[in-house]
Amino acid sequence: MAITPPSERLWWNEPLAKMEIVWITVAFVWGLVMFGMMIYWHIEGEQNLSNEAYRTTPEVFAEKSNAMVEKYTVREESGFPVVHPPPGSDVYLIARLWQWWPIIEFEKDQSYRLHISSMDWLHGFSLQPVNINLQIHPGYEMVLTVAPNQAGEFGIVCNEFCGIGHHTMIGKIYVTE
Ligand code: CUA
Repeated sequence: MAITPPSERLWWNEPLAKMEIVWITVAFVWGLVMFGMMIYWHIEGEQNLSNEAYRTTPEVFAEKSNAMVEKYTVREESGFPVVHPPPGSDVYLIARLWQWWPIIEFEKDQSYRLHISSMDWLHGFSLQPVNINLQIHPGYEMVLTVAPNQAGEFGIVCNEFCGIGHHTMIGKIYVTE
């Protein structure tokens, strides 16, 4: 075990043990396999989210979000507006320390353009329990075309560590029949 330094100073001139070269080869080949799988899954995996993203600023994005909330709020839930925007419309979701704002209500089997951006730091959008994940950066808006095929209540958790309140940063999306 290599707890102490090698006794020979020029240790790299020593011949390789057979086991060592076997393991290096195994690790190298496995690395190549994983690299290939990355490309394979990108093409065949059908697991790629939209890679649409645009530059924005927190001010511009907040303005659009506020306009939507003002127009389409249907009720409130523990201080959060619940918006029910019409199918086909642009829907805005703000990530900030430490909340997802507002609560969104979609209709099942309808399509929406969901825009997400951060007001401050890097946050992680993770939709539960369906496991859809996105990094949410300030200065960029991610745009997803979503067409929920399942009614119910979905949770959003933040999966990028964003400070002391990170674990409280949870949001909600409803899908109605
Ligand atoms: Cu936002 Cu962690």
